[in-house]
Amino acid sequence: MEPENLNSRKTDHIQLAFEAQATNLDDRFNYEPMLNAHPVAGCIPPLQLAGKTLKAPLWISSMTGGAQLAGTINRNLALACREFGLGMGLGSCRPLLGSDESLPDFAIRKHIGDQPLFANLGIAQIEEMLALGKVKQISTLVERLEADGLIVHVNPLQEWLQPEGDRIAMSPLDTITHLLDEVGFPVMVKEVGQGFGPKSMEALSALPLEAIEFAAQGGTNFALLENLRSDAFHQDMYEPVTHIGHSPHEMVKMATALCNRSENVIKTRAYIVSGGVRNFLDGYYYLRGIPWKTMYAQASAFLKYAMLGEKEVMEFTAAQIKGLELAYTFLTLKK
Ligand SMILES: Cc1cc2nc3c(=O)[nH]c(=O)nc-3n(C[C@H](O)[C@H](O)[C@H](O)COP(=O)(O)O)c2cc1C
Repeated sequence: MEPENLNSRKTDHIQLAFEAQATNLDDRFNYEPMLNAHPVAGCIPPLQLAGKTLKAPLWISSMTGGAQLAGTINRNLALACREFGLGMGLGSCRPLLGSDESLPDFAIRKHIGDQPLFANLGIAQIEEMLALGKVKQISTLVERLEADGLIVHVNPLQEWLQPEGDRIAMSPLDTITHLLDEVGFPVMVKEVGQGFGPKSMEALSALPLEAIEFAAQGGTNFALLENLRSDAFHQDMYEPVTHIGHSPHEMVKMATALCNRSENVIKTRAYIVSGGVRNFLDGYYYLRGIPWKTMYAQASAFLKYAMLGEKEVMEFTAAQIKGLELAYTFLTLKK
């Protein structure tokens, strides 16, 4: 190091020492500085999803499509997945069931390369298509997007609170079981900000899904979002409903309890912890907490940078991965 750099660093240390007084210990982790050298790129164990490789256990949650800016946002997210070896879900592809107008917003296979990409439909649409014997339309959607499979979002609270929301006539469990009987591609199931309770988690985990994404209560919450779209009277009446749900922490415990059962009750191939995952340390904490193939996912955090541009989302993703590398190298979970 040049002497003048050393000098200026030492001056920084003196000036900043009084500001650098530690508060708020994050006591979720054991910090082990003695056991490893600094991480090098590629030190995170890769994992398989839908027969493809993720270089890090990080998934970009389903967002947006068919709206202004959606094409650019999806393209930026896809490019980040390609660059860093990640995977992503598209936002609801419902607009594509009736028309091709917004196809360019969703058709991002050319940008994402060979990384995992999943289409997305709501449970109400799946129920309707199955009832009408139109399952072929679902397969065609997946094929046209060159997707690796389909995410079904299960969102009864959101639909119920949405002024123009759909109503489902069957249990989502029956609908998804029926779907799995009819299609050959991988299927994931997610919520949209409330998560799943223990009985739902147990029943879902017993299905041969590619993954269950928690979309837990704690981050972007679509029940809350729909309630904000209502008139003042309905907002006031139903505001208490928006607090219902399960935190990612609680859902990690549910999944772990299922893994620890003496008989093997889990057929789903992976869990994705999402919904209020604030950063890579949260993500690492949650994913290491479940003794099953597990990733973490974020939606709004990626959206913030994908809206700004390609460079910004690349920087954000690179920072997440570097942070994860640090966590894998020096942190274990306190039990
Ligand atoms: C702008 C936006 C659009 C979304 N659209 C969808 C969607 O179409 N389908 C879906 O399954 N989830 C959708 N979600 C929910 C996310 O996939 C995720 O479950 C939720 O935002 C929680 O993640 P977060 O707390 O990291 O934002 C959307 C989220 C955002 C922020």
